[in-house]
Amino acid sequence: MASGHKIPTRMTAIAISQPGGPRVLKPETRDVPVPGPGEILIRVRAAGVNRPDVQQRKGAYPPPPGASDLPGLEASGEVAALGDEISRWRIGDRVCALTPGGGYAEYVKVHAGSVLPLPAGFTHTEAAAVPENYFTVWHNVFERGGLKKGETLLVHGGSSGIGTTAIQLASAFGAYVVTTAGSKEKCDACLKLGADRAINYREEDFVTAVKDATGGKGADVILDMVGGDYVARNYEAAAVEGRIVQIAVQAGAVASADFSKIMVKRLTHTGSTLRPRTVEFKAAIAAALEAQVWPLLGTRKVSPVMDMIFPLADAWRAHERMEEGEHIGKIVLDVG
Ligand SMILES: NC(=O)c1ccc[n+]([C@@H]2O[C@H](COP(=O)([O-])OP(=O)(O)OC[C@H]3O[C@@H](n4cnc5c(N)ncnc54)[C@H](OP(=O)(O)O)[C@@H]3O)[C@@H](O)[C@H]2O)c1
Repeated sequence: MASGHKIPTRMTAIAISQPGGPRVLKPETRDVPVPGPGEILIRVRAAGVNRPDVQQRKGAYPPPPGASDLPGLEASGEVAALGDEISRWRIGDRVCALTPGGGYAEYVKVHAGSVLPLPAGFTHTEAAAVPENYFTVWHNVFERGGLKKGETLLVHGGSSGIGTTAIQLASAFGAYVVTTAGSKEKCDACLKLGADRAINYREEDFVTAVKDATGGKGADVILDMVGGDYVARNYEAAAVEGRIVQIAVQAGAVASADFSKIMVKRLTHTGSTLRPRTVEFKAAIAAALEAQVWPLLGTRKVSPVMDMIFPLADAWRAHERMEEGEHIGKIVLDVG
């Protein structure tokens, strides 16, 4: 292993002391991870907060085998040490990365294929807000959902980290974007980001609104993080040959729906989770993002929507903010 100067053996990390509310997130002293072959060690400057971290904290989303038990699915910082078999990265490079866990810490080790350079002109806190959402949206909307220029995307939860990313990317690639959100303020934010139509789902039925917005045709691709009764309603809101991509089931994993819609409209209902996928799969997404999305980030055609930044030690406040549900875009931890 090649290392930079002065890597300590111990570091501060935020651990989940037991399953429970935000206050179970506590600073702990841990060993600095040692990168193995194909891995790099990042001196973390900022770490993104994601809804799956909240689920993990509650004990409902255990880390996959081999991953750190510490929360944190994305980070940015400088390369501090290189494992064997690393050719692209040098010590001191400014990078951001998708992490299989362990982002809420001063150091994190990651597979080199999950690492990308900081987008041009980005601060560390901005860069830490990118990987989890951009990897997820790229794979689910464009690869799995096959969204094409001129098609309509319906994004549920438009003001979420995932939703704000999906709106911007779909709009940048020439799609017509319809979104749902739970307040006027959130709908206004979605419109500012490029959504063509924002539906306050507490006041309007999204099926009717999507049909109205598309001249009765429906949405070609639906990115859904809600599940529950949205499953049947998504089948209604979808266009013929529509693709519905499930990335979460916040309103319930069990639903009843009229499956004849799948036959009549020739729908595809698919879904995925990112975290347990192979390092090769993540490296392929990283390469696609660097080629097709990094230039858009570099010119600010798309950029993460920053909600609030908290110091690492206050990770519990970041989780509280996320669970209050008032945030628009990304919550990030400043690691210093
Ligand atoms: N499959 C994957 O690979 C993957 C990867 C990353 C994230 N995810 C999932 O994607 C979702 C978004 O993640 P995030 O980090 O961006 O979280 P986030 O910012 O906290 O967003 C959660 C969103 O869900 C919406 N929502 C929650 N319950 C709802 C309901 N019953 N009806 C309608 N909308 C509802 C909220 O919208 P309102 O406030 O407007 O109600 C909120 O915008 C999470 O569920 C997360 O687990 C999946």
